[in-house]
Amino acid sequence: MRILSFGCSSGEECLDAADVFPNAIIKGVDLDEKALQKASAISHDRISIEESTYEAVFSGGPYDLILAMSVFCRFPLREEVVNIKDVYGFGKFVDEINLLHDVLKPGGILCIYNSMYFFDDCAVSMDYFPILTRTVNFGWMVKYYSDGEPATRVSHYWEGQDYNYVDWIGKIPSGFARNREAINHFWLNPGSRGSRRVDTPFWRKRR
Ligand SMILES: C[S@@+](CC[C@H](N)C(=O)[O-])C[C@H]1O[C@@H](n2cnc3c(N)ncnc32)[C@H](O)[C@@H]1O
Repeated sequence: MRILSFGCSSGEECLDAADVFPNAIIKGVDLDEKALQKASAISHDRISIEESTYEAVFSGGPYDLILAMSVFCRFPLREEVVNIKDVYGFGKFVDEINLLHDVLKPGGILCIYNSMYFFDDCAVSMDYFPILTRTVNFGWMVKYYSDGEPATRVSHYWEGQDYNYVDWIGKIPSGFARNREAINHFWLNPGSRGSRRVDTPFWRKRR
């Protein structure tokens, strides 16, 4: 089994993947120099770390599982930013999704957690079906349409109350965020939702 941690940061995700999948070979790639330095210090016979380039991503594949967690987002956003297209354009998201699509095996799983745009808005999403699970949430980043306009408002539910992100991070015990019920996306304009999903980070490639 081959796993790509796209945006592996300092490598913890690679270590977790190595634990969960004891036979997997794991490649971690990132762009951040400091994170790469730390990740490269990991000594593990099934983990390799490289700077994120097209070649680095390709050379470890094709992959059975690709993790892109909290990568397709910009955080924190300055408060005055409402439309995100100038901060993070949809075209960049599509380019990176297309790269991951090219290196994922047929039947492989793509995990896109905390993206600001919808995977459903990418043309290649037609080649995938969602995997639904009761225990995993979809991420706490506000979602945006491909024109950069906000699509959802996010609230964090805990013990009968809704919190914004800052209060939620400050007040609830860590670990609770694992509960899918804790994070709710409310559509600003439900009529524009279309078939976009806010209930799963997991997508299986059909062919
Ligand atoms: C918030 S961290 C998430 C780390 C880890 N995936 C996790 O969920 O804990 C996002 C990382 O993605 C990296 N990143 C952003 N764009 C990237 C790209 N095109 N290729 C590889 N890494 C990227 C950033 O440098 C950063 O280290």
